[in-house]
Amino acid sequence: MDDFGFVDRLGSNAEKYTLKKKLFGTDDVMPMWVADMDIATPICVLEAVRERLNHPVVGYEIMRDRAYTAQCDWTLRHHDWEIDPRWLSYSPSVVASIGCAIRAFSEEGDEVIVQSPVYPPFYDMVRKHNRKLVLNPLVRDEGGVYRFDYDDLKAKITPRTKLLLLCSPHNPVGRVWLRKELLELGKLCLENGIVIISDEVHGDIIFPENTHLPMASLSETLRDNTVTLMGPGKTFNMAGFSISTVAIASPTLRERYRTELQKVHYAEGAVLSHIAFEAAYAHGDQWHEGLMNHLTVNREMIERWCKVHPMIGFTKPQGTYLAWLDCRALEMGDWELRDFFITQAGLGLSAGLSFGKEGSGFMRLNFAVTREILAKALDQLTSALEKNGYG
Ligand SMILES: Cc1ncc(COP(=O)(O)O)c(C=O)c1O
Repeated sequence: MDDFGFVDRLGSNAEKYTLKKKLFGTDDVMPMWVADMDIATPICVLEAVRERLNHPVVGYEIMRDRAYTAQCDWTLRHHDWEIDPRWLSYSPSVVASIGCAIRAFSEEGDEVIVQSPVYPPFYDMVRKHNRKLVLNPLVRDEGGVYRFDYDDLKAKITPRTKLLLLCSPHNPVGRVWLRKELLELGKLCLENGIVIISDEVHGDIIFPENTHLPMASLSETLRDNTVTLMGPGKTFNMAGFSISTVAIASPTLRERYRTELQKVHYAEGAVLSHIAFEAAYAHGDQWHEGLMNHLTVNREMIERWCKVHPMIGFTKPQGTYLAWLDCRALEMGDWELRDFFITQAGLGLSAGLSFGKEGSGFMRLNFAVTREILAKALDQLTSALEKNGYG
């Protein structure tokens, strides 16, 4: 399927455009940073919301059971994981859920493990809650594949280590973790009384040869030790509806989480989001299939381009629509690299360093765009490289 449902978001108050000047110092860049897409939210979602607006009152409403059930059915269909809808709590944001879980399952001064490089709010949430950030960096092999470092983790665990923030699939490195990797990580957490907060918001953006395995689906003991964060924001390009869920099977952990949740009083969120959420999970399968076809071709375009331009290293992401470009062969400092992408290539990407020091020398490119935009971005990068003698 070619250029599946794409829209020009310029002038729409999309953050990727409105923050260009602030982030890159110029409006003259193609924005390929923030993790949302240039693809219209599925028609089934938009129509359900329009239909709801035929009723003239937009008042307080609670999430209907059938909205939660739609997500559980989706998770069973797509990930072979059976969730009881009673395990689910509403959340307006996955990052907010991380904060809530940190407060629920640790005290100030406790240690929280983060596997760098990773989505920056993981660090912020730990620090802002006065917990101690313990880095357990992923290890990159010669083939460019990132893996967990169990020995490093073992060495860093202390009696004050209470939580591990898992990113699965991993933003920015694009790994979809294997069963044996998750089991080994999970075993270490179980042995040491460490609760796993598993951020699986990218769990539906999985390329054909891979399978996303929810940590909580792997065994009963892991299910009872895991807090899973999920949502339709990435899957259906509807982050603006600000809706996600937190699945907690263990009644004890769920009680602790909900006690904390009540203190911030998110209540049940907004009615239009409930409607959008239900429609996406109930009717979004076909749209999602089209999306993955589109993204698969885009991923191949980047791979082909990188073969011709080997100074930019690329390991195909197994999940997410984010390309983690290894630019270390250009031998530029991080500011120089960022500047090269902005001023020479006219591209607004996320600097690798913003994901942690292990991201030094890398750039993250969001390829959930039209083929035309991706081709233009790669052409601009080709010209910039040639102009600077890297051709
Ligand atoms: C791993 C990960 N978690 C959470 C989020 C953001 O979720 P939310 O907007 O629901 O807070 C993102 C957004 O890019 C992400 O990549």
